[in-house]
Amino acid sequence: MRRGGVMLRRGAYAALAVLILGCLLSGVRPGSVTTTPRAHAQAPTELKYTGAASCAASNCHGSAKPKPDYPKLNENIVWAQKDQHAKAYATLTNEKLKSGVSPSKIARELKLTKAEASERCLTCHAVNVPAAARGPKFDITDGVFCDACHGPAEKWLEAHAEKGWTHEQSVKLGMYDTKNFLLRSEKCVSCHLSIDQELVAAGHPDLLAFELATFSANMPPHWRDKGTWADTKVWATGQAILLREAAKQLASRAKSGVSAKLLDDALRKVQGHAAVVKHVLAPEAAKALGQDVAALVDLVTKGDRAGVTAGASKIAAAMSQEAPRLAGRDWDQAGTQKLMQSLTGDADAIAAAGVRAAEQAAMALDRLYNIYSKAPGNKPDKAAGEALDRLFAAIENPAKYDAKQFAAEVKAFEKNLK
Ligand code: HEC
Ligand code: HEC
Ligand code: HEC
Repeated sequence: MRRGGVMLRRGAYAALAVLILGCLLSGVRPGSVTTTPRAHAQAPTELKYTGAASCAASNCHGSAKPKPDYPKLNENIVWAQKDQHAKAYATLTNEKLKSGVSPSKIARELKLTKAEASERCLTCHAVNVPAAARGPKFDITDGVFCDACHGPAEKWLEAHAEKGWTHEQSVKLGMYDTKNFLLRSEKCVSCHLSIDQELVAAGHPDLLAFELATFSANMPPHWRDKGTWADTKVWATGQAILLREAAKQLASRAKSGVSAKLLDDALRKVQGHAAVVKHVLAPEAAKALGQDVAALVDLVTKGDRAGVTAGASKIAAAMSQEAPRLAGRDWDQAGTQKLMQSLTGDADAIAAAGVRAAEQAAMALDRLYNIYSKAPGNKPDKAAGEALDRLFAAIENPAKYDAKQFAAEVKAFEKNLK
């Protein structure tokens, strides 16, 4: 049976290598998918979600003549024309997807009459709020539209266009604060990190390799974060939240008695994020994380599921502490360069931590190098770009992942970091 591929590709800035990752079976976070993603729940529910059409006017966010600087006021056009989120609802009935994934087959396996009417799908493929929270222009078929990330606009929609109105004022009235990197990470991760094992077994692509900076670049972004080194912070904050959620997923799988295979998949995702996030932690915290992950590997091997739940929960708690710190830490050129060197210097350990770690490392180096090479005074180097392409080629097929070869490609890239 052909399983749908998740596209993992280098962030947009050079020739894009589009790579298909094979999908492995993954496990469950019981009950987590039938509810609205957690981040939605943070918005006051009595507020109405006004719909993409309420933002789309040509004098609002649908300008055909984008301003030179951000906000460009063409966000609705970028979203509608280039952003996969605009197709998220349509996907639920699209039998001609390039990936070959069949939504109706997934629905059949799950005994759902219609994917496009099922909570189990709409929770991530649309803005699935209760009828009472839907404004007059709300249209579920718009998929993952503005309100999915920016929150219900009822109270700020008109006011936020006034002169002198601030983002903070909107946030007080129910706008979701996507400018806060911590909250932004939570929002994206609420749909992108883990998915019910039953869906994966039914043919849904597994969500194995999310990374905030890379996926933001690939959306493509209709915004620009302030500051040359903002993306380093996006990457670091995203990793802490991703590790926290991956650890929670592992803890709950251990508790729910999934197969050894599914437990192992969840463990590898934890190992993947831990292998890269440790490079932005203080030395003692990095050491403790290394020990905690090693202990987890042991516990999974021994089949001590209570131990796994406890160990994974400990890592999740540690990341809850680290994430706000990382969201508040500013970066510069020297710091970003040191971070890349720290990652490449750890090539053997990262490669040995498995293909999920290799994917995260490849995406990290790609994004960090992009930030670095675009900074004033620097320029992208062709050889470095080619080395990154080879790094992505080495993770193209997870089933054929070769740790030695990946480590060698990381070291080849390292030569470009003078
Ligand atoms: C409400 C759930 C939800 C939220 C929140 C969300 N996404 Fe998505 N995202 C999806 C779904 C569903 C798809 C798949 C759309 C499709 O192909 O039908 C997707 C697809 C994508 C893709 C395209 C992936 C590919 O393989 O081409 C990128 C990139 C992406 N999301 C990035 C992000 C980022 C960055 C954020 C946060 C700023 C985010 N997403 C927030 C649900 C969500
Ligand atoms: C936890 C959130 C989540 C849930 C629940 C979910 N999806 Fe998805 N789905 C995604 C994301 C994210 C992607 C994109 C994966 C990627 O490219 O990274 C996706 C991709 C897909 C694709 C492949 C799209 C393509 O272009 O290849 C199909 C088909 C699909 N989903 C159908 C469904 C159906 C049917 C359901 C309900 C049974 C469902 N999804 C439930 C998040 C979700
Ligand atoms: C998948 C999540 C997501 C969706 C969907 C989305 N946005 Fe955004 N948007 C973001 C993020 C993340 C930012 C960056 C943080 C910020 O400026 O709030 C952003 C920023 C913005 C900005 C500020 C740009 C700047 O640089 O100042 C505007 C305006 C905006 N979005 C409008 C829209 C509109 C209109 C839609 C619907 C057509 C939309 N967004 C859909 C995630 C999303």
